[in-house]
Amino acid sequence: MLEPFTERIYVTRPVFPTIEEVTEKLRDIWAAKWLTNNGPQHTMLERELTEFLRVPNLSLFNNGTIALMVACQSLRLSGEVITTPFTFAATPHVLSWNNITPIFCDVDAETMNIDAAKIESMITPHTTAILAVHVFGTPCDVATIRDVADRYGLKVVYDAAHAFGVEIGGRGIGTFGDISMFSFHATKLYHTLEGGALTMNDEHVKQRIDLLKNFGIKNEDEVVMPGINGKLDEIRAAVGRIMLGYVEAERQKRIRLHAVYDEELSGVDGLTLMPKCAANVKLNHQYYVVRFDEKIFGRSRDYVCAALRDYNVYARKYFHPLCSEFTCYRQLNSSSPANLPVANVVGQQVLSLPMYGGLTADDVRKICAIIKSFKP
Ligand SMILES: Cc1ncc(COP(=O)(O)O)c(C=O)c1O
Repeated sequence: MLEPFTERIYVTRPVFPTIEEVTEKLRDIWAAKWLTNNGPQHTMLERELTEFLRVPNLSLFNNGTIALMVACQSLRLSGEVITTPFTFAATPHVLSWNNITPIFCDVDAETMNIDAAKIESMITPHTTAILAVHVFGTPCDVATIRDVADRYGLKVVYDAAHAFGVEIGGRGIGTFGDISMFSFHATKLYHTLEGGALTMNDEHVKQRIDLLKNFGIKNEDEVVMPGINGKLDEIRAAVGRIMLGYVEAERQKRIRLHAVYDEELSGVDGLTLMPKCAANVKLNHQYYVVRFDEKIFGRSRDYVCAALRDYNVYARKYFHPLCSEFTCYRQLNSSSPANLPVANVVGQQVLSLPMYGGLTADDVRKICAIIKSFKP
């Protein structure tokens, strides 16, 4: 048996700025005497992220979930929205919180994103939008989604929580669809501790979103819509400005680790590695996921996940269970396994392996050797 790691290896570890950098920014905030409500750090971060993500407009939020809630409100979505069951709980939950029924569409076997070719068959007279997720940072089939949305007059919202910095042909991923949501949670490649943003091409949509995230307050005398508190404070905005200086170096480290995983695991029967994207796609390498076909590999994903813990490796079953299996959604017609054959297989097979810049190539080689040792 290979030696276990002496310390726990988690699926990811947040990138920490130095305490000195944070202290310096805190001094600026204390000097400005401005803690929240569109302060200077917030203004500067919005500008810097707009440039970094190559989007025309961006609105900061206190987290990605509230941002997505506001996206639905701003586009006045209602009735039914077609989405994927292979995502984090927040995606369908924001629909429910907006009194919208999530309609689960099956996923593509390769990308694990919503199967764009199946969306049309899920449209009903109640459908108002498509909420697609760039799962693990792999872009959705944005052209087909736009085409079907245009033909049926539907809005398109992307949950780009995993897709910070992803580009297609030099175009920021946040420019596709009507609105895209980014999460800046501490576990993401880029973070503001907690935080998020919406990006949109239409400036009027940004104006509406900026009102909605501030209680609908237009000025001292007018409240023009029922808004919510989605504001990002100055301290987290300042952390976000520091973290922009870390993101490319962290991405480069993950590119190298991704290559080691590919090298060590390719050719192992029964394993499906991360999908290959078109050459014009810039990925962020935030995650590394593998699928285990029990019939061929000889061990199930659940076996591998449990057995890795004996070696102090804490991989995670993202995304299992499927959202369509949650007690709050499983009674929906679209949740039936017959409607979601691919998602149900993927949900049983997928395992997210440790991925963060602090890992060494040798750590990754050892994790791969442990996994291969499970093959009977
Ligand atoms: C796909 C997806 N959507 C939405 C969210 C919610 O973002 P937040 O944690 O910033 O609210 C997350 C993760 O956190 C996510 O992974």
